[in-house]
Amino acid sequence: MSGEHRRRRGDLAPDPELWAALAENDLLGRILRDFYERVYADPRLAHFFEGVTRQRAVEKQYSFLKQIFSGEKCYFGDRPRNAHHWMVISDELFDHREALMEQCLRRHGLADHLVRRWRATEEVFRKQIVKAAPRPRKLGGVELPLEGYDDVDVTVGMLCDACGSEVPPGARVRYHVRTGRSVCAGCVAQGASAPPGVEVPR
Ligand code: HEM
Repeated sequence: MSGEHRRRRGDLAPDPELWAALAENDLLGRILRDFYERVYADPRLAHFFEGVTRQRAVEKQYSFLKQIFSGEKCYFGDRPRNAHHWMVISDELFDHREALMEQCLRRHGLADHLVRRWRATEEVFRKQIVKAAPRPRKLGGVELPLEGYDDVDVTVGMLCDACGSEVPPGARVRYHVRTGRSVCAGCVAQGASAPPGVEVPR
């Protein structure tokens, strides 16, 4: 990280000047809608967001940043270390995302010194997000599995995540332990249970 992006101890302190600029005419919302439109179209970033709506990505990021910049308690999502636990993200990919963000901030006319402060805040999270291998998520000190499947008989009806057909109460589905993606017996037989990049057990 270059020195100019550093604001150290104060990096997560409320920043009333930056928040005032972002709150005016919903600049923060406009920036994030533009940013995620580009992220979802980006060949290196889009695949991470499979199964996550753009609206959800924008809203989570909005309340996360608003809480940091304004100091108002309004974010109820995961901490970045947990939210990104399974994503293999290199320093170089993180830089790529930051470059996209910086272009976006400038396109929307955020003043230079405020762009630097925004970037410094995001840099705080680099160490939590960049990693060479997935990290198990912890719940109550216990590591949760990253990959694998389990079978369960559903108690309420649902739709198969692969073929979309109805699964009645009592029928068996196979679900992926990290993503929760659940598929019907017919799809399991055809090997369709895996989320992207995961091999299907037969
Ligand atoms: C290359 C870099 C990054 C990638 C590929 C990435 C990807 C993602 C994805 C796919 C999600 C959705 C997770 C889900 O809904 O299950 C997410 C959520 C989130 N990300 Fe990132 N992210 C990156 C960098 C960052 C940075 C730098 C920050 C903070 C400044 C950040 C903050 C968040 C937050 C707050 C959430 C919401 C967590 C929640 O759902 O509770 N991300 N990210």
